[in-house]
Amino acid sequence: MANILDGRKISEKIRESISVEVDDLKRLGVTPGLAVVLVGDNKASKTYVTMKQKACEKLGMHSILFEYPESLTEQELLAKVQELNEDESIHGILVQLPLPEHLSEVKIIESIAPEKDVDGLHPISIGRMMTGQETFLPCTPFGIMKMLEFENISVEGKHVVIVGRSNIVGKPAGQLFLQQNATVTYCHSRTKDLEVHTRRADIIVMAVGKAKLLKEDHIKDGAIVIDVGMNRDENGKLCGDVDYESVKEKSAYITPVPGGVGPMTITMLMNNTLISAKRSNSFILSKVATLEK
Ligand code: GUN
Repeated sequence: MANILDGRKISEKIRESISVEVDDLKRLGVTPGLAVVLVGDNKASKTYVTMKQKACEKLGMHSILFEYPESLTEQELLAKVQELNEDESIHGILVQLPLPEHLSEVKIIESIAPEKDVDGLHPISIGRMMTGQETFLPCTPFGIMKMLEFENISVEGKHVVIVGRSNIVGKPAGQLFLQQNATVTYCHSRTKDLEVHTRRADIIVMAVGKAKLLKEDHIKDGAIVIDVGMNRDENGKLCGDVDYESVKEKSAYITPVPGGVGPMTITMLMNNTLISAKRSNSFILSKVATLEK
């Protein structure tokens, strides 16, 4: 019977310390600000965006949502991002993905100022992450690493199997594990005999978006199972990429869906926005530090 990696509980603890830092910054006249841009009417995206906004407000951050119909042109979206790049009250810019097909995600993400890329998806952020430099890390992989760190689970020397190769989750997750000295295997939709790989894993990250794909007999005893999936099962109930009920009996640790990785993603977005606000006001902060000496 597995230990539950409770993303809500861990998030609450991390958000407590973020909240203290937000209050400190506000006393100095700086309110961390996040701008979220949502295009079209993807229902899941709307839900995620609302959760991000609520989390911001609860921490006393400034949060502003720009919602546009699907008919928005690329020029208009690029102009909005440019305006936010120049807005000093905004420290983080998040363009919710997926974008409607006529808008180039690559082009839009590249237009975000890297110092405001709290999503960690800009090629400069990714390049810095790949080379182990300080940067904003993509929120979901970052949240996974924080969760493991919080539970004192070392990944060094462990065999980590990542199932899914998206730019948002799978690819960067593998990099972060590699940086912490894990051995990483990437699997994806074209991998043959997936279970041959997952059965050899000490840690499995499921991020393919296939309801209950990972079953009990696909893992070894005592594996750690991280479920990034967000699907509906045959009864319309929210479920992950893991067959939770059976896998939890065999694994050492498991993340539930909902209440696992999801809350951690939002927490790391708050964390990145706070860091960005601190960085962009380092002049004020260093002056205070000098005065306090
Ligand atoms: N869509 C689903 N997850 C994410 C995320 O973390 N960032 C953005 N921008 N879009 C998403």
